[in-house]
Amino acid sequence: MPMETANMFNPASKVSKISHCSSMEQYKQMHAKSLKDPEAFWGEISKEFHFEEKVKGKFLDYNFDTTKGKIFVRWLEGAKTNICYNCLDRHVLAGKGDQVAFYWEGNDPADAEVVTYGELLKDVCRVANVLKAKGVAKGDRVAIYMPMVKQLVVAMLAVARIGAVHSIVFGGYSADSLADRMMDAQASVLITADAVWRGPKLIALKEIADDALKLCSAKDLKVKMNLVVQHMNKVTAPQPASNGTAANGNVAKKTHFDDKGNFKVNWDPLVDVWWHEAVSAASSECDPVWMDTEDPLFMLYTSGSTGKPKGVQHTIGGYMLYTATTFKYSFDYHQGDVYFCTADIGWITGHSYVTYGPLLNGATSVLFEGVPTYPHTGRFWEIIEKYKVSKFYTAPTAIRALMKFGDEPVKKYDLSSLAVLGSVGEPINPEAWLWYYRVVGDSNVSIVDTFWQTETGGHVITPLPGATPCKPGSACFPFFGVDVALLDEEGREIKGEGEGYLVFRRPWPGIMRTVYGNHERFETTYFKKFSGFYCTGDGARRDSDGYIWVTGRIDDMLNVSGHLLSTAQVESSLVEHPSVAEAAAVARPHSIKGECLYCFVTLTEGNTFEDKLVAELKNKVRSKIGAFASPDFIQLAPGLPKTRSGKIMRRVLRKIAVGDKDFGDISTLADPSIVEKLFELRPKES
Ligand code: PRX
Repeated sequence: MPMETANMFNPASKVSKISHCSSMEQYKQMHAKSLKDPEAFWGEISKEFHFEEKVKGKFLDYNFDTTKGKIFVRWLEGAKTNICYNCLDRHVLAGKGDQVAFYWEGNDPADAEVVTYGELLKDVCRVANVLKAKGVAKGDRVAIYMPMVKQLVVAMLAVARIGAVHSIVFGGYSADSLADRMMDAQASVLITADAVWRGPKLIALKEIADDALKLCSAKDLKVKMNLVVQHMNKVTAPQPASNGTAANGNVAKKTHFDDKGNFKVNWDPLVDVWWHEAVSAASSECDPVWMDTEDPLFMLYTSGSTGKPKGVQHTIGGYMLYTATTFKYSFDYHQGDVYFCTADIGWITGHSYVTYGPLLNGATSVLFEGVPTYPHTGRFWEIIEKYKVSKFYTAPTAIRALMKFGDEPVKKYDLSSLAVLGSVGEPINPEAWLWYYRVVGDSNVSIVDTFWQTETGGHVITPLPGATPCKPGSACFPFFGVDVALLDEEGREIKGEGEGYLVFRRPWPGIMRTVYGNHERFETTYFKKFSGFYCTGDGARRDSDGYIWVTGRIDDMLNVSGHLLSTAQVESSLVEHPSVAEAAAVARPHSIKGECLYCFVTLTEGNTFEDKLVAELKNKVRSKIGAFASPDFIQLAPGLPKTRSGKIMRRVLRKIAVGDKDFGDISTLADPSIVEKLFELRPKES
C-alpha cells in the first residue's frame, strides 16, 4: 500500500521491490562511497562500457578555485572511447539488434514508426559516411536544426561516431538565433528538415535555415553542406478545426504546398543535399573514431545574464558515465521498461534523457514529435496507454497546463503501466506535484523531481524511486558524486537548516568543462563568486530533515523588508487557490520595504478576476508564508510571457510591474503579443 502522510510520501510504489537502490541506507552508503573514493565508484560503473584504451593518467583531476589558477576538470585521463559505439554497437554485439530503440509517435496520431537498435546503427553509419565524404573530421562542429524525428537522433550519433562535435539548436529558434549559434561555433555543416507540424502549426525549418545560412555567409562563415531530411511527404497534415474555424495549418497549406500537395522548398544545389538521396548511396558500415575521454562531445547554448548565449561544452567520457548512471537510478530503469521523455532534443533534457542516457542503457523509448494538447488535451495520456509507458518524464509547466483541463482527460486512459513520474526544469509547486502523483500516478508511483542544469549534464539533486521518501516540492538529496553546499552572501557555509546559494564543492563526471571559445566566461560565471565552488545561480533551502528545496534562480529572489523570499514560494502559494492555474511573481521596487511583490495570475477556466479574489489571494500568501510576503499587486494574466522552452521571461514581467514599456528583446517568446496585453491589464493603482 502506498503510504501518504501529512507531507511525506513513502517510496513504497510499484518499483520498491526491484529498485536499483531500495533504501535510504543503501543510498547513503553509495553516496558516501562516491565522494570518498570517486575512482572506485565510477571505475566500477565504467566497466559496463567499452573503452578502447584504459585510463593512463589520473582518474580525476580538477581545480575549482580561481585563486589557485585555471579552472579545469578531467575524468578518466588518457582513456579512449566512443559514445556512439557505447549507445549502439555494444548492444547490437550483445544480440539486442532487434530490440526497439524508439517508438516514434508523430504529431498526428496516425503517424508512427518503430526503430530498432540494429536499424539505428546502420542509419548512423550511413550518415557518418555522408559527413566524412564532405570532409567533416574530428573536432569539426556540425549544427543540427531539426524536429523530433528519428533522423535527429541519427544525426547526433553520426557526428559523435566520427569524433565531430554537435551543436543542436532547438527547432523553435529564429533564423537570427540559429545564425548566431552557428557563427559562434563556426559550424561547417548544417543538418535540418524541410518542415514540421507542431500541433496545428507549420514550422518551415528549411526556410528559416536558408535565412540563417544567408546571415552566416554575410559574415564569411562557409557552410559546406545543408543536409535536408524530407519529412513533410511522410506525415499527416492537421485537419481543419472541428469548430469550423480555419486552423493555422490551413493557411500554411496554401502558402507552402503546391497544387499536388507537395511541400515547396527553395533549393541551392551548391549547398543543399537531400538526406534520403545521400544516405541511400552510403555504406551502412563505418568504424567509430576512438576519442580521448576529455575530447568535446557537444556544445549546447544556454542564455546568459549578459544576453549573449553561452556554448556549454560537454566532453565524452564523464558525460557518458553520468547520463547513463543518472538515467538508470533516477528512473530506476530496468530492461522491459518503456520510457517516455517529452522534452525536445534541442534542450539538454533531450540530449541527456531522450538520446544518450536511454541508449547507453539499451532502453526502449517513445520519441514524440507533437505537443501535449494536439489533437486533444489527453495526448500524453493516450501515448502512455498506447505504448504501456512505465517511466514518464515531463516539466511542471506542462503538468500545470494540463491540470487546467481537470482530471477527466487523464482518467479516460489506462495509465496503470506507470511506475515513475519525473519532473524537470523549474521548481514544481506542491499542487502540481500532488496532481501528478494522485491523478496521473493514481497514488501508486514514485515522483522524481530532478534538479539539474544544462551545465550539470545530468541530474544533480533528485530522489531515487524506491529509496527516497519524498516531500512534494523538494528535489530531495544529491546524486552520487555530488557534494552540495549552501553558502551565505559572504561565502560562509550554512550547515544544517537554512537557505542560501546552492553550490557544489567538487566535480561529478557530467559537469560542463568550459564555455565554447570563452574559458574566461566559464570561470567568471560559475566560479568567481565563491572560490572553490561551482555556483549554480540558484538558491536553496535545507530543512530540518536535510531535504534540499531549490527555490529558484537567485535573480528571482527578492528581499521584502529584510526577508529573503523566493518567487517560487509565492507562486506556489497562489497556485494553491483553486481559481489559479499559473502564477508568476516578481519584485517591484518599494520605497519603504525595499522590494515588494507584484504577481501575475492565470485563472482556471470559468473563473473571473474580481476584488474578492484578489483579497483571497493576498490572504493565501499571507497565511502560507507570512504577512511580510503579502503581494502588493496582483494582476490578471491571460497568459505568461514564456520562451519556447516554457521558461517565464521574468525581466519582462518586472518591466510591466513598474510600468516601463522598454521590454528589450522579446523575439524568443512563444507568443510576444502577450506582453502588450499584460501591460494593458495593469491594475490602475500600480
Ligand atoms: O533554476 C533551475 C531550474 O532550471 C535551471 C536550469 O535550466 P536549464 O539549464 O535550461 O536546464 C533545464 C533542464 C535541466 C536551474 O538553474 N531547474 C531545473 N530543474 C529544476 C529547477 N529548479 C527547481 N527544481 C528542479 N527540478
